[in-house]
Amino acid sequence: MKPINVGLLGIGTVGGGTFTVLARNGEEITRRAGRPIRITVVADKNTELARKVTAGAARVTDDAFSVVTDPEVDIVVELIGGYGVARELVLKAIEYGKHVVTANKALLATHGNEIFAAAQKKGVMVGFEAAVAGGIPIIKALREGLTANRIQWIAGIINGTTNFILSEMREKGMSFESVLAEAQKLGYAEADPTFDIEGIDAAHKLSIMSAIAFGIPMQFDKCYTEGISRLTREDIAYAEQLGYRIKLLGITKRKAHGVELRVHPTLIPAKRLIANVEGVMNAVLVQGDAVGATMYYGRGAGAEPTGSSVVADLVDITRMHTADPEHRVPHLAFQPDRLADLPILPMDEVETAYYLRMRVADKPGVLADVTRILADLNISIDAMVQKEPSEGEDQTDIILLTHLTLEKHINSAIGRIESLETVTGKVTRIRMEELGAR
Ligand code: HSE
Repeated sequence: MKPINVGLLGIGTVGGGTFTVLARNGEEITRRAGRPIRITVVADKNTELARKVTAGAARVTDDAFSVVTDPEVDIVVELIGGYGVARELVLKAIEYGKHVVTANKALLATHGNEIFAAAQKKGVMVGFEAAVAGGIPIIKALREGLTANRIQWIAGIINGTTNFILSEMREKGMSFESVLAEAQKLGYAEADPTFDIEGIDAAHKLSIMSAIAFGIPMQFDKCYTEGISRLTREDIAYAEQLGYRIKLLGITKRKAHGVELRVHPTLIPAKRLIANVEGVMNAVLVQGDAVGATMYYGRGAGAEPTGSSVVADLVDITRMHTADPEHRVPHLAFQPDRLADLPILPMDEVETAYYLRMRVADKPGVLADVTRILADLNISIDAMVQKEPSEGEDQTDIILLTHLTLEKHINSAIGRIESLETVTGKVTRIRMEELGAR
């Protein structure tokens, strides 16, 4: 049967992995797809590298626009990244009637609504399995495997760099700065690691999953995002003593009046499976009303793991290529004219539990003042630890775990606690989730 022709934009890590996987498993992939999938042209600024990777098996060009308008190309794979030229290329490919596969979470999180609308109008498919959690087939799971369910919440470790940093801080008692330097040396974190450590990369991925889970448009701009750069090894150690691990979680929850969409460091019980996901690995925990909790674990980055997801999309598109667009799986799982207008809740309205650490004078009445403030705001305390003051010190750390409360209430409590004369400096606040699987 006639092969399907693919134009690859960008032959860096993921492009190289995609090329290798297709070449190595081509025979089995053809048996699955029903026809051969052939990368016929590769565009990269570094044509020398592209020639080396493709070894004569594909035409090489430095002009990506010539690929997206090439009448011989059926599917364009965009692996350039960023939202500038990548957006132009994807929209141009769609305009020229090409199906698109992309690993670009930043592009989809910020321009996904525009891209899916254009693809819908043109009757082409946009595959993006590789954009969320690398090699883990979480898009397929959310969009198809769990389609019977009313999804209640998703909690995911969806950034390997930050998970590696947190694992190292906990296991070796190292500071954030020194582990970050190690991660950069190992090539896990980017030279400019802001997107990873400030939670932006995770927020991109979470916004995509939230849209698919709840049938709402992508709303990355409304995602609350807090990274791990201010976490201390002391808090990680205190959390451990209390039976918790701290993970950078992407959390999205369906509530009565809207959807919670937030990325932040989170205490989770150490006994949970997801709390034991260490190093660069990713995991996504999904709670559906029918299935209960399901968890998806694997490599969230890397050449062949991410290439595995790109090729899965190529196979899907090859199979569905001739199907009536009406009968294809909708991009965001729900039919585009049936998206809900559930609002993303402001952080003040988010309900969760909290870990609070404060430095206080070691004298009578201090604890009573703090607990009175919490009681006045109807915040119930779940656990409390007071550290022995160090030799010769008259100050000590108090750690409080609260029951569920609204973020606005904890914010007022923190304001009032910080204004007590007996409390020194800022109160450290870390959100907590039980993630109880039902
Ligand atoms: N920078 C990402 C991570 C990998 O550390 O998980 C690609 O999404």
